[in-house]
Amino acid sequence: MFKKILVGTDGSDSAAKAVEHALGLAKKTGAELLVVHAYPSPGQESGPPFGPAEPTPYVEIGKSILQDVERRFAGAKLRTLLREGAPEDVIVEAAEDEGVDLVVVGNRGMAGTKRFLLGSVPNRVSHHAPCTVLIVHTT
Ligand SMILES: Nc1ncnc2c1ncn2[C@@H]1O[C@H](COP(=O)(O)OP(=O)(O)O)[C@@H](O)[C@H]1O
Ligand SMILES: [Mg+2]
Repeated sequence: MFKKILVGTDGSDSAAKAVEHALGLAKKTGAELLVVHAYPSPGQESGPPFGPAEPTPYVEIGKSILQDVERRFAGAKLRTLLREGAPEDVIVEAAEDEGVDLVVVGNRGMAGTKRFLLGSVPNRVSHHAPCTVLIVHTT
């Protein structure tokens, strides 16, 4: 049914549920699982006095988020991707590059705004993805 599944994570509990769901689907269908994390480009945050004095180590944070996934699901058939850019762009581009046939995202992520059931990433990905999109209701 599915050959390649891509799931996005920002390291949040909600996204972790989406990863778990995607892995379950991958196991059932024999698909390969790709787990992608998008980190912001440097210069997207303001410096002092409004932002941090030291630049946020986004790459290191991203690596540790993906290492956590690998550790948690050790032994599972999965591959991790770390890419720079807006999450919705990174997810859509990775889906195109890798020729995936299913994209999985959580309905919420890190921000988890109570007012909205759907975050901007699933909203945007659903408009632009080259394949079927599954929005896991995690919250
Ligand atoms: N930086 C990211 N990299 C990869 N996937 C992401 C990223 N941010 C969000 N996602 C995906 O999108 C889902 C919804 O997140 P988002 O729209 O950012 O909601 P929120 O506004 O609550 O942060 C997450 O559960 C995750 O699957
Ligand atoms: Mg977010």
